[in-house]
Amino acid sequence: MKFLITAGPTREPIDPVRYLTNRSSGRMGYALAGAARHEGHEVVLISGPTRLDVPAGVDFVQVETAQQMYEAVRDLLRGVDVAILCAAVADYRPVVCGSQKMKKGADRIVLELEKTPDILGSMRSVFGFTGKLVGFAAETNDVIPYAQDKLQRKQCDFIVANDVSRSDIGFDARENEVTLVFPHHLVPLEKDTKEQIALRIIEHATIVPS
Ligand code: CTP
Repeated sequence: MKFLITAGPTREPIDPVRYLTNRSSGRMGYALAGAARHEGHEVVLISGPTRLDVPAGVDFVQVETAQQMYEAVRDLLRGVDVAILCAAVADYRPVVCGSQKMKKGADRIVLELEKTPDILGSMRSVFGFTGKLVGFAAETNDVIPYAQDKLQRKQCDFIVANDVSRSDIGFDARENEVTLVFPHHLVPLEKDTKEQIALRIIEHATIVPS
């Protein structure tokens, strides 16, 4: 099968030397790419900036902003059977990115932000993707209800939900503990390395419904 996986954070520039980003290390997405490749699949990994090595045998596309990730996903979807959108995409970006470094001035300043394109939300409705679609939901509270809502709104096959209020799992951690949220059932996966969790997610993503 052909997999498309997004990973890592995005960077949204404020000026030539500053940007908005988040704590995503990219480990979960890279582990997914490695696991899918290990299982013999063709893999395209579209990633924001990380410090990680690209798993062997994976086609790699480096991006920086949410807009670039949106365009890369749109342009590389042809022939994809399974899309797993794991990236921690910035939801907002500065409206204006100055071409010169901002100088210090007033005691308080306001940074105006606008929404970035919703890649997961565009997969079915804008890109017409008909393959298996897996999204991630990082929440600090009401993890399962929010994931169920996301599953429906973004027409995913399942959502990988994790609780980012815990520092031992999820964002920037080596281990994860997640629940796979399907339309009519939940599959809790015990705390494990991101590599092991990735293998379980790939297993579920490749099950063909009977
Ligand atoms: N995602 C995306 N494009 C964005 C934002 C998020 O593709 N611009 C994807 C992430 O890769 C992840 C999922 O959407 O798979 C996370 O959704 P999230 O942004 O948390 O959901 P929202 O429904 O936008 O709601 P909220 O931020 O309020 O939870």
